[in-house]
Amino acid sequence: MIGSRMSATLALVAGFAILGGCRGQQSTDPPPSQTPMALMSSSPFPERAPDGSVVDLITLRNTRGMEATILTYGGTIVTLQAPDRAGTMDDIVLGFNDVKSYEAATNPYFGSIIGRYGNRIAKGQFTLDGTTYKLATNNDQNHLHGGNRGWNRVVWKHEMNQDANGVWVDLTYTSKDGEEGYPGTVNARVRYTLTGDNRLVVDYHATTDKATVINLTQHSYFNLAGSRAETILDHELQINADRYTPVGATLIPTGELASVANTPFDFRTPTKIGARINENHPQLRFGKGYDHNYVLTRTGGGLMEAARVYEPVTGRTLTISTTEPGIQLYTGNFLDGTLTGKGGRVYPHRSGFCLETQHYPDSPNRPNFPSTVLKPGAEYKTQTVFAFGAR
Ligand code: GLA
Repeated sequence: MIGSRMSATLALVAGFAILGGCRGQQSTDPPPSQTPMALMSSSPFPERAPDGSVVDLITLRNTRGMEATILTYGGTIVTLQAPDRAGTMDDIVLGFNDVKSYEAATNPYFGSIIGRYGNRIAKGQFTLDGTTYKLATNNDQNHLHGGNRGWNRVVWKHEMNQDANGVWVDLTYTSKDGEEGYPGTVNARVRYTLTGDNRLVVDYHATTDKATVINLTQHSYFNLAGSRAETILDHELQINADRYTPVGATLIPTGELASVANTPFDFRTPTKIGARINENHPQLRFGKGYDHNYVLTRTGGGLMEAARVYEPVTGRTLTISTTEPGIQLYTGNFLDGTLTGKGGRVYPHRSGFCLETQHYPDSPNRPNFPSTVLKPGAEYKTQTVFAFGAR
């Protein structure tokens, strides 16, 4: 369904049009006469959101043929076509091709924007300026990824354009005071920019009219080996973190910032994701694999390189940079072969990995963690860059 229809709104940006011909196998550097145009387009999706509102499908494509399709439902990245070392394009994210599957309780947050709070808040409550707020508890006794109807289950408004950085779509959403138990009306904007050099830049922006907490992230599941690959265990991962935040049995941080040295959590040099994932380490047992926040080793603020991933068979690489202090490594431990996604593909155990840039889990209850409080008059502004390549 996705990608098979003509666009209602189409903006051609550069080069020559090969409409409809950009999805197949293609070189990263096609000769000029075949250079595909960069474009952004949007068209109503055949299926509406459960509340009846129209959902749109957005396409961003650059002149190298890299392409992202994004649903306004959840701001969800549905497909991401990226070249391997031979220039062959393939879809490197997991997802569904219908809104109903994204809405379902079984959706493991494939590809969506997560808000207001990415990751867990213990017992679904926190105290801010003397008031205790009770949030939806949707993950045992804890709050996870914004609650029952987090921002991955709302329809975002959209506006597309281009600038010197590339083609982009702005997604905006107003979250009302009290939504899922959070204080303050929050105006959020997430911009996805696809650059000419195969970077997907995600800019998050939010303001509030009452003190609140916020921690936005992007929940794409990647498999750089492409759409027919099984697990992600052979991907080589490097994370720029000397410490991580160990958790208890319900995956809430203990508060400790533990050294990764001499543990299966040490990814300071490139290591296969699967090399130690089944070791008998209590933290790996809690997460059923990796499901942990890394404390990025920062020398200051600003954008820093957080993680690198390399897939040896296709040569695809992913480099993630962020302004955030943390990154969650989740290795698809809860995928168990019961979900059928795009193209009828069944997703086996550990067939995708997530690297969710973020503030640490349960920060609202942890004064020693970097603060996630947003006050009226202040601006929440973070950036994460996913740079794709091949070698
Ligand atoms: C996050 C969590 C995991 C899991 C997935 C979705 O990344 O940390 O524990 O809930 O989302 O399945």
